[in-house]
Parts: sequence; C-alpha cells; structure tokens
Amino acid sequence: MCGIFGYVSKTPRTAKETLESLRVLEYRGYDSWGVTVRSNKTFLVEKASGKIGSSIVTLPDSTISLGHTRWATHGGVTKENSHPHLSCDNSLSLVHNGIVENYQLLVKNLSKSHHFRSQTDTEVIIHMIEEEVGSHTLKDAVRKVFSKLEGLNAIAVGSGNGEIVVAKNGSPLVLGEGEDVFYLSSDATAILPHTKRVIFLDDGQLATLGKDGIKIFDLKSGNFIRKKLITLDWSVLDNDLGKYPHYLLKEIYEQPKVIRNVANTLVSEAKILATAVEKAKGTFLIGSGTASYACLAATYLFSKIDRHVNTSFASEFVYLEKFLTKKSLVIALSQSGETIDVVEPLNFAKKSGVRIASIVNALGSTIYRMGDIKILLGAGPELAVASTKAYTAKIAFLLLLTFTLANKVKDAQNLLFQAAGEIERILESSNLKKLKNIAKVLASKEHIYTIGRGVTYALALETAMKIKEVSYIHTEGFAGGELKHGTIALIDKGSPCIVFAPNDETYQAIISNATEIRSRGGLIIGIGPTKADVFDHWIEVKDIQEASLIPLVVPAQILGYYLALEKGYDPDKPRNLAKSVTVK
Ligand code: G6P
Repeated sequence: MCGIFGYVSKTPRTAKETLESLRVLEYRGYDSWGVTVRSNKTFLVEKASGKIGSSIVTLPDSTISLGHTRWATHGGVTKENSHPHLSCDNSLSLVHNGIVENYQLLVKNLSKSHHFRSQTDTEVIIHMIEEEVGSHTLKDAVRKVFSKLEGLNAIAVGSGNGEIVVAKNGSPLVLGEGEDVFYLSSDATAILPHTKRVIFLDDGQLATLGKDGIKIFDLKSGNFIRKKLITLDWSVLDNDLGKYPHYLLKEIYEQPKVIRNVANTLVSEAKILATAVEKAKGTFLIGSGTASYACLAATYLFSKIDRHVNTSFASEFVYLEKFLTKKSLVIALSQSGETIDVVEPLNFAKKSGVRIASIVNALGSTIYRMGDIKILLGAGPELAVASTKAYTAKIAFLLLLTFTLANKVKDAQNLLFQAAGEIERILESSNLKKLKNIAKVLASKEHIYTIGRGVTYALALETAMKIKEVSYIHTEGFAGGELKHGTIALIDKGSPCIVFAPNDETYQAIISNATEIRSRGGLIIGIGPTKADVFDHWIEVKDIQEASLIPLVVPAQILGYYLALEKGYDPDKPRNLAKSVTVK
C-alpha cells in the first residue's frame, strides 16, 4: 500500500522521471500522488489528489527527487495529506509507506514547536527528524526517530545536503544502482526501466544513497552491512501495455504463455516441494484474497490424490497457528510477496522453527525471502489490481505439485499445455462477443451469484471476487449445495447465477442446483464443456480433466473486464483497493 520512489544522481535529472515511475507504482494506491525535488538546498513539491492520469510536473531538474502514490489510511484523501511531506524549513522531505500506530502521542510532543500541514500519521516523522538533525547526522537522526515509531513502516528522507536515507521495518524497499544514479522504490518494477542491478532491503535495515553510492546499515546498532547487488532478469517490456487498452486484459491474454512456462520450467521446484509435503506432518496453505482461493482449490486438488492439507485465510491463521509443530510445513501463496497478512503468520512460523515454502510472483519480495523453499511463479509483473495470470500460474503449479506427488509429472504437463491452448480458444473473438453481450445483460443487475462444487466451489469464490472488485456489482460465490440452505431466498425473476459445470463428479448435482435456481426465476449462465437445458447462456470451456479449473476462470475474468467497461470504471484500478496490501 502506497508506492514510494526516489533517486539521488550526480547530475540533474527530470522530475518527470519520478512521475513516470509513480505511474508504474500506482497499482499500490491511487488516492493521491506527489513529487518533490531539491532546489537550492530546500525542497519544492507538486501534489494532487486523485489518480495521476495525464498530470504533468513542472518542477525543475534536480539531483534528488522523491515521489509517492497514496492509499489513504490516516487523514482523508486531500492534497494536503498527500506525500511528500516537508520539515518546517523545507530542508527535509519524506515519503512513507505504512502506519505510525503511535503517531498521536508523537504529534503531541511536537505540535507546539512545529507547523503541521496535514492530518496524516506520516508528517510527524519528518518533524521528529528535523528535531534531531541539528545534533546528529541524517543517518543517525533517522535511526533514532525510526526506533520510536510503532507499526510496520518504510520511509525515505531527502536532505537539502544531497543525500537520501531510507529505513524499513515491514513495508518493502528495493534499491537500484544505475550509472551515477541510485534509486529507491517500493517495488523493483519501477527501477527496472533504469537498471536491473538491485538490492532488496531487509527489515531492520537503513541505507544511505548519496555521492558514495548505496551503503547499508543495521538500524539498531548502526553497523555497516555488506550486501551484494543482484541482477533481475525481468524484461522492462513486461510493464508495457503494448496493443492492449488495459493491464487487466493484457494479463488475461498472457495466461497461456504463463501456464506453459510453469509446465516447462517449474518441474524441479514441484519435486522439491513434493518431497517436503511428503516429509511434513501437517501441511498448511495460506494466502489472502485471490491467493486464498487458490489455496482452497489446492485442498481439492490434494484430495484427488488422497492427501489432506489444511487451508486458512492468512489473516485468520493467527488463530490456528497453535496447531503448527516443528514437523509442519506452511505453504504461503502470494502474488506480490508482500501481503502483511501473510508475512505475520510466516514470522510466527519462522520463530517456531516451522518449515516455510513460498510460492510467489515477485522475485526478492519479503515472502519469497522468508521461504526455506522458494518458488517463483514467473508470471511477470502483474499490474492490474485484480489478479488473473498470477492466479492461474498458482493453480498450474499446484496441479503440477499434486501430480508430482502421484508420480504423474508428464500427465500434468500435458494437461497444462492443453489448458493453455483452451484459454487461447476462449479468447477468440466470437467468444469475446458472446461474453460482451452477457456483460451487457449483467451490468444492470444489483446482485450476481456464482456456484460450483468441489474444486469449482473455490472457483465460484474467485469468480465472485473478480467480478465484484472491478464492476462493484455485489457478487457472491457459494457451494452449489448451500444455496438451498438460505441464500435461495434471494433468488427472484432475473437473478443471475453463474454455474460452473465441469465434466466431473460434480456435474449432476450442480445442474440440479442450477435447476432449483431457474425454477425460481433465476437467469443461468453455465460455464463448462456441455450445454445443459437449464442454461439461459452457455460459455463453452472444453474438458481438460483436473486442469479444467484453469480455463474455467477465464470467461469470469473477461466478464469482469467487460462489466467494468460497461459501467465506465477503470478495470485496472478499482476504487478503494490496492494491489499490494502491506497494512493489517
Ligand atoms: C489485495 C489484492 C488482491 C490480492 C490480495 C493478496 O487484496 O487487491 O488482488 O489477491 O491482495 O495479494 P498477494 O500479493 O498476497 O497475492
């Protein structure tokens, strides 16, 4: 949540560079944005509430700049509350990602002697640093102040003397080394257009960026830490929209490539994890949002090979973690690798000596680094807030994992290749036309229901999430058998229900559930290989056995996309959401 970016350069660079980098980070929060540059030892700022859109900055070129995109927590969405925040004398600037939980107390100590210009929890940090810089170096002032902040925070402080100091505990920070220029960012994707040589800062570390390059220190002791730069092999092109109008559509279309990549390149990772699952006494899968639905799907995929695994929303796992033992295995699924709800239980697991496997999409991310077994999904940067390709990559890997446990790796690969081909077929223009027409019908509805059984129950939940987050239509997913136990009371004439009807043991029962809904006036949109009489609309998805789950989600993703367009919403940046959630 919140994106921060900055650079220190030996020669002046444009503020536009900062703004362009913020565009890449905007998925982290888009309530407001701001850019600051140093000019004659003080900082100038331009900021605004709302998305960046076509905004430009008119700030002068500078050797120091910081930028911020905000997902508001404390203080409303206003220009004043946007970062960067400045010290009273404008000689220091600050961008922040996180929550200063004790800010009210800290503000009390300074409110008489300092001029506060916002209602944020953030601003107090820069005034506290301003108090300390007279008697300390900027590095030591930041260390001293940071130790007083409660909560999970990452900050970058620019100084009129030509230096930036960053510190982190909980929220992500990546540093990059270019030619005569040093970068900081919440996410490597904003640094990639400039350099591929990066360092991922760990919690409890501070770094100085200045004429001597990047130097890393321990926050508590102040001691120097030697840390090597690593080279990222992500392509910058992965960030480009190319021929697509939106990232959501682009990422939906990238799925066949991603699935084939999982099948071709993650076989040995699947074997390593399969061995760990075999050895473990108790496997627990955790994730948030879309990743949690991939975890739920996994419980059904594992049950097909007669293996029991546990799953829980990562945010709820804190109430179940007492069941972990030294022989347990925790498998964490996360696109960003930064979700705090996942990081917290992993911290507990780590402290308790429990083995962790991380299945993430973002190289170098916190959750990736926490894994004893590290698996990188290789889906490339996912920038639309609604997760698509990272979800199908997770399902593809989980399928590979369960088939590996059953000694059927080749079968899994074949199914995944077929699933990739089926997605390509679904994305042909005749099918898109059909889905667009269905979206037109659904756009006027207040509620949409989705049902499935077994593994498609997990899919019904993911579908509901996908549709509601981009279209703002209340969409709710259910296990097919559960509707008649209460929710069926909501069905009346024209109530739309998306029904997943794959060619498996769930087929007859889910068709009966669809019939129960239709008998009460419901409008049935069936997704599956066979056209049933009960369907008012049918979207064909060919049977690919256990891998059907992968192409089955694609019509739902496309429906969500078209619904967002129908309703005039930005499919990439739904209101109130952020892609990387680093607050509790
Ligand atoms: C946010 C996003 C969701 C995502 C969830 C978990 O809520 O809006 O799209 O599924 O975080 O994110 P992760 O990066 O851990 O998969």
